[in-house]
Amino acid sequence: MVASVVSLASTLIAVTSSSSPSYSSSFLTKLRSAPSLRLSFAVSPLCSRRRKHMAHTIARATLGLTQISPAFEAPKLSFSSKEIDVTEWKGDLLAVGVTEKDLAKDQNSKFENPILKKLDSHLGGALAEASTEEDFTGKSGQSTVVRLPGLGWKRVGLFGLGQSASSTAVFRGLGEAAAAAAKAAQASDIAIVLASSEGLSAKSCTASAIASGAVLGIYEDNRYKSESKKPALKSVDILGLGTGPELEKKLKYAQDVTSGVIFGKELVNSPANVLTPGKLAEEASNIASLYSDVLSAKILNEEECKDLKMGSYLAVAAASANPPHFIHLTYKPPGGPAKVKLALVGKGLTFDSGGYNIKTGPGCSIELMKFDMGGSAAVLGAAKVIGQIKPFGVEVHFIVAACENMISGTGMRPGDIVTASNGKTIEVNNTDAEGRLTLADALVYACNQGVDKVVDLATLTGACIVALGPSIAGVFTPSDDLAKEVFAASEISGEKFWRMPMEESYWESMKSGVADMVNTGGRQGGAISAALFLKQFVDEKVQWMHIDMAGPVWNDKKRAATGFAVSTLVEWVLKNSS
Ligand code: BES
Ligand code: MN
Ligand code: ZN
Repeated sequence: MVASVVSLASTLIAVTSSSSPSYSSSFLTKLRSAPSLRLSFAVSPLCSRRRKHMAHTIARATLGLTQISPAFEAPKLSFSSKEIDVTEWKGDLLAVGVTEKDLAKDQNSKFENPILKKLDSHLGGALAEASTEEDFTGKSGQSTVVRLPGLGWKRVGLFGLGQSASSTAVFRGLGEAAAAAAKAAQASDIAIVLASSEGLSAKSCTASAIASGAVLGIYEDNRYKSESKKPALKSVDILGLGTGPELEKKLKYAQDVTSGVIFGKELVNSPANVLTPGKLAEEASNIASLYSDVLSAKILNEEECKDLKMGSYLAVAAASANPPHFIHLTYKPPGGPAKVKLALVGKGLTFDSGGYNIKTGPGCSIELMKFDMGGSAAVLGAAKVIGQIKPFGVEVHFIVAACENMISGTGMRPGDIVTASNGKTIEVNNTDAEGRLTLADALVYACNQGVDKVVDLATLTGACIVALGPSIAGVFTPSDDLAKEVFAASEISGEKFWRMPMEESYWESMKSGVADMVNTGGRQGGAISAALFLKQFVDEKVQWMHIDMAGPVWNDKKRAATGFAVSTLVEWVLKNSS
C-alpha cells in the first residue's frame, strides 16, 4: 500500500524550559527593561527592621549555595499530524489508545476493531496474545508494550482509555502514558493513534489533549539535580485525527498552555530558599516584560502596602527576613477596550512554617510548605499563557500578596488583633491560618480594580484535603453563574473541581469577643469557614469564587508539583473574551 502522508500540522514544543526564555520559567532570563513596566522593588530606608535585614535577605535567598542548573540545550518535541495507515508508519513506538469496547473479539478470538484487527494480522496475532496473557482489558491506566524486532516499529503498545474515551483528561492521560513508555524504551520517535476515532466530536481537541499530555509526560524538573539525562523523545506523530490549519491552531494553543503549566510547576517545585517573595515578584516581572505589549507589572514593597493599610497581609510577613512583595500584573487586550474585567488572586506563601502555631508532628507536611504558593503559581502560569495568546475584549488582573510565614521577635503572636485594608479587624487565634490573612488584603485590592469577577486560588486548608482527597479542588462561590463558567472551563481542561457549600450558619465559629472576627473556626468544616472568612473581604457587587487547591497542588507519588489550575484559568479567561 502507498502511504499517503499528509502532514500539514507540524509544530515544535519545547520540553524543558530552563534554557528557553521565550517559553517558560525565566529563572535564568534577565529582566528586560520594558517601558510599560512599573517596578518598585526599592526597600524604603525608613523601614529600620527591613534595613537591618537587608544583608540577610541576599544571603537567605541563596542559602546553602543552591543555584538553578545552568542552561542545557533545550530538548524539543515536534508534533506532526498525519493521515496514514498505521501499518505504514515507521518509528520506535506505536502507541494505540484503546477503550474496553475496542477490545471485543469475535468467535475466532480475533479483534473486531478494524485498526486492531489490521495491526494484529500484521503481527501474526501477537497483539491479541499479549492482551490476553497480560489480562489487558482497556481499563484506564493499563498498558502493555510488545517488542517487535525487525518490523517497521520496534514496539507496539496498547494503552487503556477506560470504558469510553470522551474526556480531555483521558486523552491527556494517553499522551502522558505514551511519553512514559517512550521514556522507558528510550524511544526517540513515536506515533499515537486511537483504535476508534469515529465518534469523536472534536478531533483537533483530542489531538491537542494528547499532545499536551505527551509534553507533560516527558517533562522532568531537573533544575536542582547535579546530573540528569536528556529525554530521548524527539518527535510525536498523531495519526488519524485530521490535519490542517484548525488542528495546527489547536496544537499551538496546547503548546502555549503547557508552557504555562510547566512554568507553574517550576515555581512550586522551587524551594523556599531559592523562591523567596522577592524572587517570585521578579519572575512575575519577567513574564510582564516578555509580553510587554499586553502585560504590565506593578510590585509594591512593604512600605507601599503599609500605605494601603494592608495590616492583615503585613502581619503574616512580619517575622520574615525576606520582605513581602505585593505582585500585580495587568493584562490589557489588543484591539480596543475590554468588555469584561477579571481578577485572579493567588495565595503566595513561599513558605508556611505555621508561625508561632508552628507546624509540628507527623503529617503536618512542614517540609512541603514551599508549595504554599501554588495558588500564585496557577495565577502567574495563567498570566504567561494569556500574555502569549492575547485574547480580545477581556482585561485581567493577576494579584499575589507574596510573603513567608516565619517565626521571630517581630512576628505576629497568637492573639494579636490586625486590621485589614477594608477596616475590618481580625483576632489571630492561630498564626497557621495565615493564607486567609494575606488573601483578605489581596481581595480588597482586587475589588478596588473595578473588576466584574474575582477568582482566588489557595492551598488554604488541610480540611479541604480531608473532604475531597488529594486530586480534587474545592470550589466556593455564592454565584451560580460564575460556578457554571468555571465548571465549563474545567470540562475542557480536564481538571477536577467540586462545589462546596457556603454554609452561613458556620460563621458562628468565626466570631471574636474583641474583634470583628477570628481567623480560625473549629476543626469541623474548616474549608467552609475559611471561605466564609474570605467573603468578608469581597465587594458584594463583584462575582467571586474561592478555589481551595491544597490537595491537587502536589503529586505525592511523583514528589512534584502538578501545575494545577493553570489550564482551567486560561479556559475561563478565554470564555470571557470576545
Ligand atoms: N497551607 C496550609 C494548608 C495546607 C495544609 C495545605 C496541608 C496543604 C497541606 C494553611 O496555611 C494552614 O496551615 N491551614 C490550617 C488552618 C487551620 C489552622 C485552621 C490547616 O489546614 O491546618
Ligand atoms: Mn498555615
Ligand atoms: Zn498556608
